[in-house]
Amino acid sequence: MSTWRELEARYMMNTYARQPVVLVKGQGCRVWDEDGNAYLDLVAGIAVNSLGHAHPALAQAVADQARTLIHTSNLYYTVPQVRLAQLLVESSCADKVFFCNSGAEANEGAIKLARKYGKLHKDGAYEVLSAEHSFHGRTLATVAATGQPKYQLPFTPMPDGFKQVPYNDLEALKKATTQKTIAVLLEPVQGESGVHLADRDYINGVKEWCQDNGLLLIFDEVQSGLGRTGKLFAYQHYDVEPDVFTLAKGSAGGLPIGVLLAKEKAAVFTPGDHASTFGGTPLVCAAALVTVRTILEQGLVENAARAGTYFLEGLNELKKRHPVITATRGLGLMLAFDLDRDVAKPLVARALENGLIINATGERTIRLVPPLIITSSEVDEAIQILDRSLSAIGQCDEAQPGP
Ligand SMILES: Cc1ncc(COP(=O)(O)O)c(C=O)c1O
Repeated sequence: MSTWRELEARYMMNTYARQPVVLVKGQGCRVWDEDGNAYLDLVAGIAVNSLGHAHPALAQAVADQARTLIHTSNLYYTVPQVRLAQLLVESSCADKVFFCNSGAEANEGAIKLARKYGKLHKDGAYEVLSAEHSFHGRTLATVAATGQPKYQLPFTPMPDGFKQVPYNDLEALKKATTQKTIAVLLEPVQGESGVHLADRDYINGVKEWCQDNGLLLIFDEVQSGLGRTGKLFAYQHYDVEPDVFTLAKGSAGGLPIGVLLAKEKAAVFTPGDHASTFGGTPLVCAAALVTVRTILEQGLVENAARAGTYFLEGLNELKKRHPVITATRGLGLMLAFDLDRDVAKPLVARALENGLIINATGERTIRLVPPLIITSSEVDEAIQILDRSLSAIGQCDEAQPGP
């Protein structure tokens, strides 16, 4: 461990506060470190390994495609790309897709699409309204759309054309809308800031406001899309269809992909407007095809709903036994709980020692986004380890001298 840690510190930029384990293999919902210790993985690459680790069908598809054709560029037609586009369009409210490599890049594409739409249909309007505590990525435009000053301040000035308003506050959104506004960009479930759900009335109101004012409604489903919330797409929890939405994370089971999806009226790119060298390679699209088909055919959306409800019940039981937990929430397998003091990071460390991988989204919030294949016995195991880890945290607290 120490060797890899030292080499990482010597050769890599200091961008990640990593957990002290070197992970070397995975299987299903479990990963192993270099010393052979097993961990139940409730982070899943941050909502990425939707089929779990080393899924045989995914591994086979990647190996077969790697032996056949990995990359060609988008100067040519390739079969897995067109098949994936067809599957995503036929499974969703979208008419057209564009493939790229990450969530940030998909959102960047959505912002460019909105700006071009503004030039064509709304007198050059270009401003995008997004929500406080949102997260849309790390490129300059997506950081500017991200409603968290801590991600913006080191890199100011931010690009022009972005404004944030409180989440779930329709009046604030209406007040912030001007002649310059072209789109509203929202996560239906805010993930990175700790799994906060949009209210149904809010989403319905936003859709109506967008329709009445010629604005595009863009949903960032980078984290919440493709089964994670117990519906194939998070917008399906509401009565609305977005004009544009984005996917990434879990879409190719662990290979890097971003997808920008739009209704016909919003799909305004023409050749030369937008492109990506690696976007939609045969390798990644073959992985995404098998991932999406497995999610659909193996009932993983339903499993996310079922296992998510069961998990939330378990978290609620934990809340009764551990007053340090102040709130639990979730939709499908996008779950979180809040703590009454700054013990999220110590809890992550204690859980890791006990063989469980969880994620702190702040000093007081834990997020759980396990693979969509998680079973009820794995949920039971996770709850037991959380129980033990929370007790240990409580005991540490008691051992501390009072103020
Ligand atoms: C909702 C949302 N949008 C965008 C992103 C950025 O995705 P990526 O890290 O793939 O660029 C994330 C990543 O956490 C996300 O959760």
